[in-house]
Amino acid sequence: MANFNTVAGCVLASALFAMVVGKVSNAVVHPHKLDKPAIAVADEAPSAVAAAPAAELAPIGPKLAGANVEAGKAVFNKQCMTCHTVDKGGANKVGPNLWDVVGAKKATHAGFSYSSALQAKGGEWSYEDINHMIFKPTSYVRGTKMAFAGLAKEQERADVIAYLRTLADTPKPLP
Ligand code: HEC
Repeated sequence: MANFNTVAGCVLASALFAMVVGKVSNAVVHPHKLDKPAIAVADEAPSAVAAAPAAELAPIGPKLAGANVEAGKAVFNKQCMTCHTVDKGGANKVGPNLWDVVGAKKATHAGFSYSSALQAKGGEWSYEDINHMIFKPTSYVRGTKMAFAGLAKEQERADVIAYLRTLADTPKPLP
């Protein structure tokens, strides 16, 4: 019996010891969980950059003369055509038809139901405003219906805008 008690005591002691070690190591290990917020902070960095004020975009005007209309058409067909037609009198789809959009009053294409956010924006589609819109629509017009991530590459934006400019009876002058 004495033997059994000794053994049982040992088992109990080791169990207790294991529990204590477990708690202590938990306490020691726990601070490492702070790694997670550290990663989250790193994650936020790119979006903070992407959400930088639209005003910090370099002017696109000087890039338009050297832009490539054909390349712009290719980018447009890949990225924009799912939602926009560009032919004269073309249908509105998810987005409005974009014939003659350069210089047009914002949110006024006939028969399209614009978001109130874009209607409230006001003014005309200058080259620079289109640049901001296609760089990051949701930053430029908070609450826009244009659910498009945006074209990050300046060259692609210049090419697309140069292409949009050609879609008019009388293309607007280059800046
Ligand atoms: C997922 C669909 C979608 C894609 C992709 C998309 N757009 Fe749009 N676009 C819209 C919608 C919807 C609106 C109307 C926005 C509103 O009312 O807020 C719009 C509005 C616009 C306007 C303003 C038109 C006006 O009459 O005021 C321009 C310019 C424009 N888009 C250009 C582009 C270009 C260029 C691309 C490709 C780089 C593109 N969009 C990609 C859906 C899209």
